[in-house]
Amino acid sequence: MKIRSEIIGVGSHVPANIFTNFDLEKMMDTTDEWIQQRTGIVQRHWVDEATSTSDLAYEASLKAIANSGLLKTDIDMIIFATLSPDHEFPGTGCFLQAKLGIPEIAVLDIRQQCTGFLYALSIADKFILSGSHKNILIVGAEVHSKGLDKTPNGRNVAVLFGDGAGAVIVSAREMLNPSSDSRIISTHLFSDGSFAKELWLPAPGTALGADRINNKMLEQGLQYPQMNGKSVFVHATKRMAECLMTACKESKVDLNEIDLFLFHQANLRINSKVAEFLSISEDKVFNTIQNYGNTTAATIPIGMDDAIKAGVLKKGMLVASAAFGSGFTWASALWRF
Ligand code: UT7
Repeated sequence: MKIRSEIIGVGSHVPANIFTNFDLEKMMDTTDEWIQQRTGIVQRHWVDEATSTSDLAYEASLKAIANSGLLKTDIDMIIFATLSPDHEFPGTGCFLQAKLGIPEIAVLDIRQQCTGFLYALSIADKFILSGSHKNILIVGAEVHSKGLDKTPNGRNVAVLFGDGAGAVIVSAREMLNPSSDSRIISTHLFSDGSFAKELWLPAPGTALGADRINNKMLEQGLQYPQMNGKSVFVHATKRMAECLMTACKESKVDLNEIDLFLFHQANLRINSKVAEFLSISEDKVFNTIQNYGNTTAATIPIGMDDAIKAGVLKKGMLVASAAFGSGFTWASALWRF
């Protein structure tokens, strides 16, 4: 029997507290006008003090499992993508597993930042196609708000990021008709570590000397993300377009056949430029950044869930996803829903 990987359940969860750009104006040296013009962001959700990344992931996972029609005991692997873990170790997937109460299955934590969900999708696809696993829960979840520099030094980064979680269930199904079956058609993963310090969070880190973190590092703000925004912007536009073309070429799919583009959401202008460069009609690109900001590994599954709820993503559609972020890492996925 030939196997395919199908996304059979989707769910998402964002914390209740909304922070508009006007709220941020009161907290730091910024304006609604600057944020909207440069990024497209209108608001983001930020957690309260008590909520962690695995808490958000837990809510999204329950919804994805319910949406799939499976029982949580049917899940045989969890792949967790985050750059904002509950703790340094163990991986946040282990904390999620304990909350879900599904012991003795494989749990894998991955990084890959804004590209984390597409890397996870690719890994899940390969495990399913190998025949070793049947129902894999993928979660992308982030709590950025607890790790942002909200002083003037950090405003170029702090206004961009939001908290949230998105989850999908990828399951093994029999391949009946490769051209019409709902399935992951292809994934393409890339990285270039020579740009690692263009967007990074230095501390704590074993590369920093004996302490991993000390008061001097804290005073320097090394515990906050540092970004060369212009460099990230230029590379993101180029690489996202490039990896979409690779996906189409290698899967023998014409770009015009794609019904919907679910891109990572880092900046509305990045997505517009990618669409313009590839002559993709803007109404085929589903954007959510205005509501959530950049939720990194959670972005694409949150977008999937919102697109389904909005009636934009329907069963049988051919979908392309692309993402770019810290590493630099970038990736694309082609899938039929
Ligand atoms: O998922 C991957 C993660 N990140 C990205 O993909 C981000 C990619 N980069 C970007 O989206 C853009 O570079 C940003 C939105 C981050 C910045 O836009 P920009 O047009 O590249 O602005 P800039 O960094 O060149 O800053 C322009 C001005 C500066 O002032 P001066 O030097 O011109 O006087 C900044 O100090 O805007 C100022 N500025 C701000 N002003 C108000 C920077 N941040 C803010 C702010 N509010 N939050």
